[in-house]
Amino acid sequence: MTAEVIAAPRVLSRAEASTLVGFRVEPQPVTVTTATIARDAATGDPVYAYLPVDGVAGLRRAVLATPWQETFRATSGKRNASRVFGYSPRKVATRRESCNRTALAREAPDTHRVLVDWSARLGETLRAELPEVAADGETQAQRVLPEWRLGEAEPWTSGVVNRTSELPYHRDGFNLPVWSAMPVVRRGVAGGYLHIPEYGAVVECRDGWALFFPGYDLVHGVTPMRTTTDGGYRISVVYYALSGMKDCFTAAVETAHGQATRSKRERDMAARLARGDRGFKRSDPNSQPVVGHGIPKKSAP
Ligand SMILES: [Fe+2]
Repeated sequence: MTAEVIAAPRVLSRAEASTLVGFRVEPQPVTVTTATIARDAATGDPVYAYLPVDGVAGLRRAVLATPWQETFRATSGKRNASRVFGYSPRKVATRRESCNRTALAREAPDTHRVLVDWSARLGETLRAELPEVAADGETQAQRVLPEWRLGEAEPWTSGVVNRTSELPYHRDGFNLPVWSAMPVVRRGVAGGYLHIPEYGAVVECRDGWALFFPGYDLVHGVTPMRTTTDGGYRISVVYYALSGMKDCFTAAVETAHGQATRSKRERDMAARLARGDRGFKRSDPNSQPVVGHGIPKKSAP
């Protein structure tokens, strides 16, 4: 399918868009329903690409089998079901001492494999339609060791599967400046469009289509959705490049480093227990779900 190239005028400044961050997206009609590559009307810079992707049946089977983790989102008062995949960086605050594969790779290897395979398919689509964006992404991704990338020719390190999530306005604050790719599978759900207010774009996000856009830069959010048939779903899969991954050593070094840090923590804990020290909690670093797709917690009101 040939995508139509459109000149998109900017309708909100970056600062104006920032004031929306953390707020719910109002219901609104779709404005982008066909294969489109949008370029800024003034600068010619690419803004987003909305394209069909072949072979959605395999992706649908894989994501419907996701072992979801439910989280409660205070901003919307709604339950959110999601799962991260790919690689996760070190995060000392949650005692995740080393860069690692996400738990989904062990828990649901078949689903995980399909998600990783789709990275190649999406990368190919982006390279074909917007080679300059793909090249810029590759330059950024060079800051990450190859073993922490989902595919050798794609810039993404990680992703998240979101089920029927009305995400408030945000920027993807934990990402390298690399465009995200977001295929959607859906049945029997109305709404759930992606709004990019700076360009007044309300993208339909139809079944089997993918949106490519700079989520690290452009404010975006998901319009409310409503299930129209029993068992309806709207599942988005977002591929992104986490900036934390550029600080990861090789997997072998990470494993050794993680073991050393864990052993030291366990020795410290034992020493504190022996002293009768309280006021610290055990926690499982892998039990900390990452909500949304790189939404910094501080952005929520
Ligand atoms: Fe996002």
